[in-house]
Amino acid sequence: MSRELTIGELSDRSGVSQSALRFYERQGLIAARRTDGNQRRYPSVTLRRVAVVQAGKAAGIPLERIRDALDSLPDEKQPTKRDWERLSSEWRAELDERIATLESIRDRLTTCIGCGCLSLKTCRLLNPDDEAADLGGGAHYLRHQKRIRVSPRGRRLAQRAR
Ligand code: FES
Repeated sequence: MSRELTIGELSDRSGVSQSALRFYERQGLIAARRTDGNQRRYPSVTLRRVAVVQAGKAAGIPLERIRDALDSLPDEKQPTKRDWERLSSEWRAELDERIATLESIRDRLTTCIGCGCLSLKTCRLLNPDDEAADLGGGAHYLRHQKRIRVSPRGRRLAQRAR
């Protein structure tokens, strides 16, 4: 039988507070058996699971998706390297999308983001009469990674402004 950890040991070794570990347990992200004295005992692999939860949270992956990923790992035996690779590859596309969104936010915060405010001079060129509203609510130019599609009217206005 592999070594078990008390909640204090798990907290010390993972750097995650005991209250957060109890929360993870309530959320079904980790599991413990109870001793006769009703104390938690975690299998040592829980350290890895907590690290995955922390990494997923840091990357902005919702807890439900983290739980789904952890649920796909074997319960009893230690996950293999291949198990961990499969789990991380499932998040790859989502992480790439988040990175692209963050880069877009970084690059566009000082220009028009298509939010409908029309407050900047460039908004009237890139988003005349709030044309981005046709795409639905939100700051579309932040979310769409492709080049901003400026309408023919916006292009004419931009040319006139030069
Ligand atoms: S920044 Fe809001 S519509 Fe341009």
